[in-house]
Amino acid sequence: MNNRLTLKSIPSIVFLAAAVLLMAGCDLVPLHMRVQPRYEPLDPSAMWADGMSARPIPANTIPRGHWGEIKIDPIYYTGKITETGYVQQMPITVNRATLQRGQERFNIFCSPCHGRVGDGQGMIVQRGLKKPPSFHDPRLVDSPDGYFFDVMANGFGVMYGYASRINPDDRWAIVAYIRALQYSQNVHLDSLPADVRQQIESQLQ
Ligand code: HEC
Repeated sequence: MNNRLTLKSIPSIVFLAAAVLLMAGCDLVPLHMRVQPRYEPLDPSAMWADGMSARPIPANTIPRGHWGEIKIDPIYYTGKITETGYVQQMPITVNRATLQRGQERFNIFCSPCHGRVGDGQGMIVQRGLKKPPSFHDPRLVDSPDGYFFDVMANGFGVMYGYASRINPDDRWAIVAYIRALQYSQNVHLDSLPADVRQQIESQLQ
């Protein structure tokens, strides 16, 4: 066998050298790519005039909330018009779909304690939890829409809040459904349209 280096072996040597270089990869470069310069949180930086590496939030940045919504309408997201004042009427248009959604959510989240008709006789109450007031109590019939939204979001007394489980759209849908429940027990005959009133009166005779 001929072991001498000849012109013929040059390509193999070049190939081997290239392979070794490739295997070493970026580690041969003075600045290792696997160790990239970066700032840790709160690190100072000489690059900016204020000496901080963290940059201030640009003007007009819009925060995105827990449900991914843009919270630019405080009434819609709190039910309040002031720190303590509740909005009288819900800021949504109510149609059949809203009420059906509200009914479904109410039956899932509220009826275990408040009962399906809102009388406060839910199954959990029958098993010993403090009985909530009936939604047909005149005080709650007269309470503003925003009050129900707020109780749902933040809880009341022994009742815990549902902010993390019921999104604002659904909270308003539930308020609408509670109003429907209240109407079902409290409506006055003379507040009905004339034709409906006549129909009912004829049935009563
Ligand atoms: C685990 C049982 C439970 C569930 C579920 C529940 N509540 Fe309550 N709720 C209560 C109790 C108990 C009270 C009374 C609290 C107290 O007086 O300490 C109450 C009180 C209320 C009040 C009356 C506040 C007042 O001024 O008296 C409203 C309105 C209300 N709940 C709405 C809801 C709605 C809407 C839901 C569904 C999203 C819901 N609750 C789910 C137990 C529950």
